[in-house]
Amino acid sequence: MGKFVLIILATFVAILNASPLKHSQIRQEENLDWWQNAVVYQIYPRSFRDSNNDGVGDLRGIIEKIDHLIDLEVDAIWLSPIYKSPMIDNGYDISDYRTIDEVFGNMDDFMELLDKYHKAGIKVLLDFVPNHTSDQHEWFNKSVSKEPGYEDYYIWAAPKLNENGTRSPPNNWLSVFDNSAWTWNEQRQEYYFHQFYSAQPDLNFRNAKVQQELKDVMAYWLDMGVDGFRIDAVPHIYEDAELKDEPVNPDSGLNPTDYNYLNHIYTKDQNETFSLVYDWRAFMDNYTKANGGDTRIFMTECASDLDKILYYYGNGEKLGAHFSFNFNLLGLDVNSTSKDINDKIDPWFDRKFNNYTKNWLTGNHDNPRAASRMGPNHVDAYNMLITILGGVTVTYMGEEIGQENGELTPEEMTDARNLERTPFQWDTTVNAGFNDGATPWLPVSKKYLETNLADQKNKTISHYKNYKQLVQLKKDLVNYSSLGYGYDEIGNVFVVSRTNGRSQYYRYIFNIGREGYEIKLGSSSLFVQSVNVSYSPGDTLVLQPGDSIILKA
Ligand code: NOJ
Repeated sequence: MGKFVLIILATFVAILNASPLKHSQIRQEENLDWWQNAVVYQIYPRSFRDSNNDGVGDLRGIIEKIDHLIDLEVDAIWLSPIYKSPMIDNGYDISDYRTIDEVFGNMDDFMELLDKYHKAGIKVLLDFVPNHTSDQHEWFNKSVSKEPGYEDYYIWAAPKLNENGTRSPPNNWLSVFDNSAWTWNEQRQEYYFHQFYSAQPDLNFRNAKVQQELKDVMAYWLDMGVDGFRIDAVPHIYEDAELKDEPVNPDSGLNPTDYNYLNHIYTKDQNETFSLVYDWRAFMDNYTKANGGDTRIFMTECASDLDKILYYYGNGEKLGAHFSFNFNLLGLDVNSTSKDINDKIDPWFDRKFNNYTKNWLTGNHDNPRAASRMGPNHVDAYNMLITILGGVTVTYMGEEIGQENGELTPEEMTDARNLERTPFQWDTTVNAGFNDGATPWLPVSKKYLETNLADQKNKTISHYKNYKQLVQLKKDLVNYSSLGYGYDEIGNVFVVSRTNGRSQYYRYIFNIGREGYEIKLGSSSLFVQSVNVSYSPGDTLVLQPGDSIILKA
């Protein structure tokens, strides 16, 4: 054992020399509403299960695979968009908010899905994309042709005319996907604004009719029986009404067409956006009140600074999102240290968040897979971490088996995010059980023979078995309302402890360093261990680099 080996005693003492466990009393976790301690499982429908063997996953595939969700005991599934769409952004470009795209199935399939999942006690959350539509949406066509009532459904602006007679966009705003956020429309002889692709024109929320249209869409799906929404791209909903130029980010060193070249003070997190979110909360709460049943919820997608995230939760007076995604852990990678983990989670334990339900996630369809980003031998450690921290756990499909990014040719990389969107690896049959052999829209990862659900179900210890154990832990953690965490000064070990009033505890220990780390079990026992931990009965356990455990005493 190297000189950095530390010895900890599995009693509740400050075990880490330089940084004793920092305590943060978390909310009394009694009388929680259904979503406050939930596991939300994100399904990217195109890649989950292709029931009709046309290469694209579908709703009947999600129905077929219900046993997996029942088996995992998730509380809710969130479906990435399933609506009619030209699929320029895989469904985040909606051309009809009330219709299911035929590639995914039809309304009967959806109603059956809803019914079956509800009967199994699993809530169904839909993706709601209010910021923009597809340029194929009838509202956009009507707006292009200035059909009365639709003129201002989108954000239109006259060009800037240059001295040499050419025109340019009205200001310097950039699209999240780079280059100008303005596209010229020949017919209307004006530019329209788009935060994302040019095929995704931004709706104009300063138009009361637009606000009402989108509320009607929410009501439409709530009336169908859905339990709530994940709301897309929330910080981008409003922009400065005067279209002021944004300042350049000093020293960014980036190309002027790169989104981050500008400091987005006029196109992100505007005050009206917060008000809109509070209004949506009131609308959802009223809906639940008027219709009875369990609380309808919504979670906001906000890649914003934490002070802004806080405002999406509420402003002290008014409530906003039930929770606003916490993307902090997406910043961790294979080189991260225990201090890095600490620095990502610490701000969320600021008292400002005390009244709000926290949430933790390590991946989604927009970011390299957790197993690839943080290292395949850290899969269990991160699944344990996002569980032990309490609140909502969001799991991107495949994280329960440690699925990694796929391998794609340059032609298949039509979108850099395709890497994390390759089909779910069910088993060792053709196309990993995604379908019956048709060419999938993205190729199945070659790693499916080593990493697949069927195999992990058969093993005594696997990521999947650990994940199931963690879902059980989650249910018990509500009785352990005190939380502490800390790291050692050389960045090797991260510890989270949950205790109850009777000094019983669960303790998470993750060796993210390069040396073995010895633990005396004392009165504690192993509740869950990462797949590589080697332990033979006795009082001592050495966590090798990458290993993690949760002890119970
Ligand atoms: C965020 C979604 O997660 C992403 O996939 C999409 O491209 C953008 N919003 C635009 O809708």
